[in-house]
Amino acid sequence: MLGSKVLLLAGSILGVAAQAPLPVVDLGYELHQATFNESGQYYNFSNVRYGAPPVGQLRFSAPAPPSTNDSKIFNDGSTAVTCFQAIPAWTASTADWVVNATPPADPTATEDCLFLDVMVPQTIFEAAGQAPGVPVMVWIHGGGYTLGSKTLYSPSAAGLIKASQAQGGDGIVWVGLNYRLGAFGWLSGPTFQASGTANAGLYDQRLALEWVQQHIAKFGGDPSQVTVIGESAGGGSVLHQITAFGGLKGPVPFQQAIVQSPGFQMTPSATLQESIYNSFLTIAGVDNLDEARNLSTQDLQLANYKLVGSSYPYGSFTSNPVVDGAFAPALPGQLLLHGQFDHSLRIMAGHNILEGLEFMNPFAQNETSFEDTLRLYFPTITDAEVEYISYTLYPPVFDGSVGYTTPTGRSELMITEAFFTCNTNFLARAYDNNVFNYIFSVPPSLHGDDIAYTYYNGPSASVKNDTLAVIMQEYFTNFVITSNPNGAGLPAFPTYGASATVLDLNLTTIGPIPDNVANERCLWWQKGLYA
Ligand SMILES: *[C@@H]1O[C@H](CO)[C@@H](O)[C@H](O)[C@H]1NC(C)=O
Ligand SMILES: *[C@@H]1O[C@H](CO)[C@@H](O)[C@H](O)[C@H]1NC(C)=O
Ligand SMILES: *[C@@H]1O[C@H](CO)[C@@H](O)[C@H](O)[C@H]1NC(C)=O
Ligand SMILES: *[C@@H]1O[C@H](CO)[C@@H](O)[C@H](O)[C@H]1NC(C)=O
Ligand SMILES: *[C@@H]1O[C@H](CO)[C@@H](O)[C@H](O)[C@H]1NC(C)=O
Ligand SMILES: *[C@@H]1O[C@H](CO)[C@@H](O)[C@H](O)[C@H]1NC(C)=O
Ligand SMILES: *[C@@H]1O[C@H](CO)[C@@H](O)[C@H](O)[C@H]1NC(C)=O
Repeated sequence: MLGSKVLLLAGSILGVAAQAPLPVVDLGYELHQATFNESGQYYNFSNVRYGAPPVGQLRFSAPAPPSTNDSKIFNDGSTAVTCFQAIPAWTASTADWVVNATPPADPTATEDCLFLDVMVPQTIFEAAGQAPGVPVMVWIHGGGYTLGSKTLYSPSAAGLIKASQAQGGDGIVWVGLNYRLGAFGWLSGPTFQASGTANAGLYDQRLALEWVQQHIAKFGGDPSQVTVIGESAGGGSVLHQITAFGGLKGPVPFQQAIVQSPGFQMTPSATLQESIYNSFLTIAGVDNLDEARNLSTQDLQLANYKLVGSSYPYGSFTSNPVVDGAFAPALPGQLLLHGQFDHSLRIMAGHNILEGLEFMNPFAQNETSFEDTLRLYFPTITDAEVEYISYTLYPPVFDGSVGYTTPTGRSELMITEAFFTCNTNFLARAYDNNVFNYIFSVPPSLHGDDIAYTYYNGPSASVKNDTLAVIMQEYFTNFVITSNPNGAGLPAFPTYGASATVLDLNLTTIGPIPDNVANERCLWWQKGLYA
């Protein structure tokens, strides 16, 4: 053992380490070979299959594990794989993706996209099987449930891995996963569910988490120390994984979660689910799911592109986790309120200030449009509830007494709280306030601004304070390793507690402040009375 390390050291001094054979892991169904990053000293097992191709009868269904085969496939990870992407036309920054155009060519996009990446520091990989294994961080990416991939919003976890070694240990294993997006993963509704599986994307993520339980020890990871982390749709996904099956299927396949800006459009009503499914059938030119399963990949991709492209109202993505009577027996907020979730988890959660700004219609400035938007989001909402939201929770009072001074500020706060930030308070209260929550408030603190800090890997235009980025990475990785973000040299990170304290991560300072979502409005949203 010592000898081989000395040899390796000698090799890198001579600059010939790259000639050492690259390791291959036997997954039973596939032999997977790593690449080695010399400067980062980590192995990269990229594009590892975790699910069978979700095609044929598996299209629109829960995924299946890879099939085992006498002749194992050899995979060197060099073929990049992403799930099909689509984007709503209201996103001004992407005006070239218009509703009726053809999707831009993407040679990495394929229906057979259930793949993940594993990054392992060299020392950890070499100890696999001999040492107990190190903590594991599993990333679920965001992107409105229609966009993104295991690498798109996290080009490299190299910086995070470095931060995980700051206290002198070997660090962590990092996993990033793909899951089906848009119509491929998120159709639902009573007619669809006669033979399709609603929330297929959540089942994809769960299969990947089960893969981690089964295989991560082969890479040097400890399956009993797994933290799932996700931002935006990834955070909304983690929220659904925490409340999976209303807690009725035993422990979830992970032990901790970091939930960042958890976002999704609550879809409790079968009415909206059914109408989206009907739009899909019309756009795809088919009458039923059997015919949709017979569509060519290219035709389905085009239908998905048009369905998501025409998302309405402004701010919506048409693809969301929904209440399905199975994976999500009720809204996550309701399940958390009722105690229907895995109580054994340890939680860290955070949100930004202006989460909602990018998702509100800039032209919706009057009372009619405020109320119309609510009716579009929640088609079965009663007049009484619309009135309660409009006049009691977010009244058109612009003297600053409610927290806004313009109609834009009013809509922004409603979207921020309802679709993003209240979720972090639901988690805190469900876990007896014994959680570590933070607010990322670096101006402008828009939705997604924190990602560049989480994945900081050297100076970049999106990071305004490099010290803050490294401190955040140390909080996250300390939590992954010790269940507590606190560590030597870091500002104290308090638990939430009965007084709802969060750590404010501001441009120039870090310190405790009261949580801005510990309020009556969030208590109301949690009850799900809008359907
Ligand atoms: C190798 O790791 C370094 C971090 O140490 C990173 O900056 C670099 O991008 C990585 N190289 C590749 C090809 O991913
Ligand atoms: C088994 O492996 C061979 C060789 O890679 C491949 O051609 C075949 O499609 C595989 N069969 C199944 C059922 O996966
Ligand atoms: C891992 O390997 C893949 C495939 O070679 C490459 O595209 C990716 O940039 C690598 N990632 C890191 C973090 O080194
Ligand atoms: C699907 O395609 C198969 C093979 O072409 C055909 O036999 C079957 O009738 C088709 N099913 C539907 C519902 O169109
Ligand atoms: C309210 O705003 C909408 C645009 O969102 C506009 O179409 C409508 O005419 C406005 N109504 C009133 C009463 O100003
Ligand atoms: C962050 O700091 C700015 C001043 O730099 C201040 O205006 C703002 O209120 C702070 N945000 C929070 C949430 O503390
Ligand atoms: C960056 O953040 C750190 C931690 O809060 C702080 O000590 C430092 O002063 C900040 N730097 C600037 C330039 O504001």
